[in-house]
Amino acid sequence: MEDNAGIRNKRWSLQGATALVTGGTRGIGHAIVKELAELGATVYTCSRNEADLNKRLLEWEKSNLNVLGSVCDVSARSEREKLMEKVSLAFHGKLNILVNNAGIAIYKKAIDSTAEEYASLMSTNVESAFHLCQLAYPLLKASGAGNIVIISSVCGQIVLDDLTVYSATHGALNQLARNLSCEWAKENIRTNCVAPGPIRTVMTETLMEGNKISAKLAERTRGSINCSRIPLHACCFLYYWSGYSCRWGMDRSWLTKILRTCSIGGGKFDIKS
Ligand SMILES: NC(=O)c1ccc[n+]([C@@H]2O[C@H](COP(=O)([O-])OP(=O)(O)OC[C@H]3O[C@@H](n4cnc5c(N)ncnc54)[C@H](OP(=O)(O)O)[C@@H]3O)[C@@H](O)[C@H]2O)c1
Repeated sequence: MEDNAGIRNKRWSLQGATALVTGGTRGIGHAIVKELAELGATVYTCSRNEADLNKRLLEWEKSNLNVLGSVCDVSARSEREKLMEKVSLAFHGKLNILVNNAGIAIYKKAIDSTAEEYASLMSTNVESAFHLCQLAYPLLKASGAGNIVIISSVCGQIVLDDLTVYSATHGALNQLARNLSCEWAKENIRTNCVAPGPIRTVMTETLMEGNKISAKLAERTRGSINCSRIPLHACCFLYYWSGYSCRWGMDRSWLTKILRTCSIGGGKFDIKS
């Protein structure tokens, strides 16, 4: 009997595609890097911690996955520029997929949030995504079929306590995706958002103690997806809406101008990395 991976690889192929995934050393970004590379894409990733990045690059190399990477703090404009120069060099000026995933969370009541925390959340979560899209634009255009996926959050659509500024960054990302999807569709660059519910990663581990956040979230959403492998859902939407080598008979031109913010789940999921 054919296993899941066999079935999946028949449906999807990213052979020959190039992708940049920010924040790929752990959590959601790590799962997306692995998924894209396993489907044949050559992936470039980045993070701030050099030791973590080198460890991951070695692991991927041992698994015969084509993943490159370099250190970059996406909250700094000059570092974003250097990153895109390296990506352009590695991929000969053509990029098929940009996944804006790197982000931070600060759990604070609005009244207690400092100016520094506000600035840090905005530059890491929003400004970096916007500027990386700008920097990637010529590369995405040159590929002839560019795809931007912004990892947003259900917090951009619902209210959760102590996450006001964080949630505002995700509301901004959702709207950024909406506008880019219209503005750049004519260049055959598609833009979408994937907005997950809570996933157990380093970012959320303290918040998930006692299942507080997922219980609150379940109250505010239509329930949970019964799935322990949320990154696959995220990637599935990514492939589906990207239409890249899609063999499900979707008409790519029909997809081009469609924006989806895919809100994924009110449940709780684990990523083991
Ligand atoms: N986990 C959830 O429940 C959840 C739900 C909805 C949305 N999201 C969103 O999904 C994204 C990933 O979250 P996660 O839970 O996987 O987080 P995570 O486990 O903390 O991983 C974040 C990744 O991004 C990197 N990163 C953080 N700040 C960076 C910066 N300034 N420059 C470059 N890389 C940076 C981290 O590496 P370094 O620290 O070494 O830089 C790491 O590789 C975030 O945008 C988050 O808002 C998460």
